[in-house]
Amino acid sequence: MAFGLTKTTELITPRKSFVPCILDDDPAQLDMLSSVIADIGYEAITTADPEEALKLIKRGHCRLALVDVHMPGMDGYQFLDQALRSDPGVHILLMTGDYTLDSALEAIRRGAADFLPKPIDRTHLKKTLDDAANLYDQRRRVRVLEEQLLKDLEFHGIVGKSPVMLEVFDFARKVARHYTNVLLVGATGTGKELVARAIHQLSPVSQQKLAVCNCSALVDTLLESQLFGHMRGAFTGATDTRPGLFEYANGGTVFLDEVSEMSLAMQAKLLRVIQNREIQRVGSPEVQQVNVRLIAATNRDLRAEVLAGRFREDLFYRLSSIQIRLPSLAERLEDIPLLVQFFLHKYNSAYGKDISGLTRRAQTVLLQHPWPGNVRELENVISSACITGAGDFVDLADLPEHFQHRGPRSMEGEDWKPLSLDEVRRVHIQRVLEMCQGNRLRAAQILGIGRTSLYRYLKRDGYDTPRLKSGAAGAAS
Ligand SMILES: Nc1ncnc2c1ncn2[C@@H]1O[C@H](COP(=O)(O)OP(=O)(O)OP(=O)(O)O)[C@@H](O)[C@H]1O
Ligand SMILES: [Mg+2]
Repeated sequence: MAFGLTKTTELITPRKSFVPCILDDDPAQLDMLSSVIADIGYEAITTADPEEALKLIKRGHCRLALVDVHMPGMDGYQFLDQALRSDPGVHILLMTGDYTLDSALEAIRRGAADFLPKPIDRTHLKKTLDDAANLYDQRRRVRVLEEQLLKDLEFHGIVGKSPVMLEVFDFARKVARHYTNVLLVGATGTGKELVARAIHQLSPVSQQKLAVCNCSALVDTLLESQLFGHMRGAFTGATDTRPGLFEYANGGTVFLDEVSEMSLAMQAKLLRVIQNREIQRVGSPEVQQVNVRLIAATNRDLRAEVLAGRFREDLFYRLSSIQIRLPSLAERLEDIPLLVQFFLHKYNSAYGKDISGLTRRAQTVLLQHPWPGNVRELENVISSACITGAGDFVDLADLPEHFQHRGPRSMEGEDWKPLSLDEVRRVHIQRVLEMCQGNRLRAAQILGIGRTSLYRYLKRDGYDTPRLKSGAAGAAS
């Protein structure tokens, strides 16, 4: 049945929120089509200007456009390409007087929702509009629910809906009320610091201070003075007397990040604090009582460190009586869409963008990635896509280079090349460094090697390496 030929007595239910756009250079066609569409139950916007129609799509006013193939200036196919670039979810129906099966297939291949011969079959058009309107309604409902879900599933700035993460939230909530020592275990970028902050916030001492110390960043003498304070003249450069973090956070919480990187000597001192809750400033004979809760974090297997003789067994048992394990992102791929939404919100407002989501192929690629840098890596990917992305959706081209050429995960992917072990090591180190944005300490942790070994490899491969402080310098050469 062609347009305008019959009028039926069917029940008309205009769907105000779903507004089709009709684009045709012939005013008579525009009039005729818009009255047919009104008959079907929709209120269409008509225009003869492709740029105007593109604007309507870009601003989200029209999620469906009925477009004539033959138009002066921009033809229907060019319009289709541009519309899909600004909104990959838009429905474009191309219509033409010279329909052939080949041209219809070409239109579908290029992303058109349908290819309609003129005169247009009214029943077919009604079904197409109804299907698109239902899909639009459904997507809108899902989006509203997702927004709501994001609010409900955010635990003190930590996002997750996977059963493993819900368990982490639940346990953290219970532990927060009663802990004196908690150990957080998990690979780099899994959110240990976020969980530590949440536990402090939920604890009875949330009004007191939380002091954070990264134990791997400091040599022994500095770490000791950072934690326990020092007296003036206690060592070269100690020009004044300073309290340490345990004193600073007295009554609150101290968070010791990367606790496994402490030397055995420092571990002994920490054990004393845990057992007796007393500290001594460097260079002072005086012992002071402190009342602090302790949260420690590590991305190493502390039990293995104990077996290897690098971590004190007594300290391990003291720290790990309450242990929370943060799962890797690969163990909870179902959290990725929610995390992506969360980071899009965050970086849209940070960079003044209005990116609505990811194209389907970009979503697929994210779900296939192994995520060695976990949530931190995902956050970096989304934040840089928000900086560089020009469209309304993040597409493959906005993802880092190594995401774009990855096929489906396989043991012998097409990009497999016969490389020597040295070459594999070199390429892998460079990839991890890239992922860590050049942070060598973090790269070494992900690679499971010491900083000095990383410097040695980099030097061997001809990269510049900074000189290390303290005892590490000898091993780097
Ligand atoms: N579940 C999450 N929801 C939202 N943001 C997260 C989540 N997990 C991690 N992040 C973000 O990822 C980044 C890394 O998190 P965090 O510093 O807590 O990880 P970590 O486990 O302490 O890593 P590392 O061992 O390298 O110190 C931070 O920017 C954090 O905000
Ligand atoms: Mg951390």
